[in-house]
Amino acid sequence: RLLVIDFGSQVSHLICRRVREAGVYCELRSCLLTLSDVTSFHPQGIILSGGPHSVYDKDAPHLSKDIWSYIDEKKLPVFGICYGLQEMCQALGGKVEAGTKREFGHAELLIRNDVAHLTKDGSKKVKGRSPVFEGIAAESVPVWMSHGDKVTEIPPGFHSIAYTSNTEFAAVEDQDRHFYGVQFHPEVTHTPSGAAMIKNFVLKVVGCKGEWNMHDFCQKQIDIIMNKMGEKYVVGAVSGGVDSSVAAALVHKAIGDRFRPFMVDTGLLRKDEAKIVKERLEKHIPGMKLKVLDESAHFYKELAGVSEPEKKRKIIGRLFVEAFEKAVSEMGLPHEKCLLLQGTLYPDVIESTSYKGPSSIIKTHHNVGGLPDRMKMEVIEPLRLLFKDEVRALGNELGLPVTSVMRHPFPGPGLGIRIIGEVTKESAETLSAADDIYIEELRKAGHYDKIGQAFAVLLPTVRSVGVMGDHRTYENVCVLRAVTTTDFMTADWYDMPHDVLARISNRIINEVKGINRVCYDVSSKPPATIEWE
Ligand code: XMP
Repeated sequence: RLLVIDFGSQVSHLICRRVREAGVYCELRSCLLTLSDVTSFHPQGIILSGGPHSVYDKDAPHLSKDIWSYIDEKKLPVFGICYGLQEMCQALGGKVEAGTKREFGHAELLIRNDVAHLTKDGSKKVKGRSPVFEGIAAESVPVWMSHGDKVTEIPPGFHSIAYTSNTEFAAVEDQDRHFYGVQFHPEVTHTPSGAAMIKNFVLKVVGCKGEWNMHDFCQKQIDIIMNKMGEKYVVGAVSGGVDSSVAAALVHKAIGDRFRPFMVDTGLLRKDEAKIVKERLEKHIPGMKLKVLDESAHFYKELAGVSEPEKKRKIIGRLFVEAFEKAVSEMGLPHEKCLLLQGTLYPDVIESTSYKGPSSIIKTHHNVGGLPDRMKMEVIEPLRLLFKDEVRALGNELGLPVTSVMRHPFPGPGLGIRIIGEVTKESAETLSAADDIYIEELRKAGHYDKIGQAFAVLLPTVRSVGVMGDHRTYENVCVLRAVTTTDFMTADWYDMPHDVLARISNRIINEVKGINRVCYDVSSKPPATIEWE
């Protein structure tokens, strides 16, 4: 297992992605970690991330001296990236200075072929490439740079293993002590062979086996949950989305019917969602019983006459908490014996624990979703070490169907923020019918899995004139939205083939009462958002 130490780079989490893709478990920790944090993790190797500071600044973050001594004593391999390289060089007796020009963007890395190494059996010195570049055939490869400072003197024992026209020490090593460092960013996709370099460090230099897989992870998590639970119960709201379904399947496998899942039917879900999710989960998670609370009438009543988006969100949030309380009290379980299941993922954990600056306070992530104080329960977050695609892989491992595991995300407030203006039972039914046709046609045409999120929006405050047979109609407008995205922070509208759009539009106008016009949303995020409200 590897420890990735974060010095505040925006892309530190990508280092973790690359290490895990190499089949090795790793975690990202703030550079403010202590020696005991390191020793209790038992890392086989360490990667130091990039960061926005200058190593020679007064308040620059550094690894503590006792961690460096531990690295030395245990002969732990270290791989420094950008700031991480500079931190390593400075700590070991090299020199870092402000460069004469900032280097940002693409650069061509020239790999040295004449680096002296001892053969594996240690008997003689040969000349060749650094193990970091094993399997990379080209003489030079494109890399992504983003730095102002540069290493001007390398520590004793180090030598250059690759360079660019601007940087003599673009990649360095001290093979005897297993120290490696690169000035560029191998973790980003703009460095196409970067993943191979990280993999080489992890497998060839550190000697990890690359055998980390979801099957073992799943078994281990089940053991952890079983040990942690004792006589306790777990309650949890299941939405039918990927994270809550996978978390539910995992906890059920660990503690069986001491897990009490429930689903709140807000009346703002996808068409027949509560029924479908209940059937699907109970079929694929044998023995699990999902309690459904139909609160739709209450939600419609409380939302009547409200059209301001933030007000709608607040009302839906409050009603959800009330429904949650009701579900837990109906189960008759004492609060002190209950844990609350949360589907927190690793990006949220990273967001709350990564290094953000010299004065930042490290927070622990406990998103209890605005539950009132009297309801506060200890939280169980079995997915907190996983990225989204790893959660999907865990879902597969647990036997959940593709329809559960590969679903587009669906927001908590549901159709409430897709009906622009006042939400009524009638508008919710109209929109869910249109949305259902849209998604069905996307699946049929093979587009669903190429899209990050697709949904329909209803504009009940806009009426449009149409003609049907011999009759004039005056009805609602429905907007189709489909975006591609990697992280939902930015998104592009999906280039949908016209014949697919034509089929969807035709079906919605003909089959859904109350809609006589369909539009396609061609806005990217930013400046638009994915949802309309
Ligand atoms: P926006 O509209 O901000 O959406 O571009 C980004 C992603 O977040 C989802 N979203 C929400 N999810 N509660 C949620 O659980 C919310 O209030 C909420 N608002 C937006 C949205 O569907 C998209 O995936």
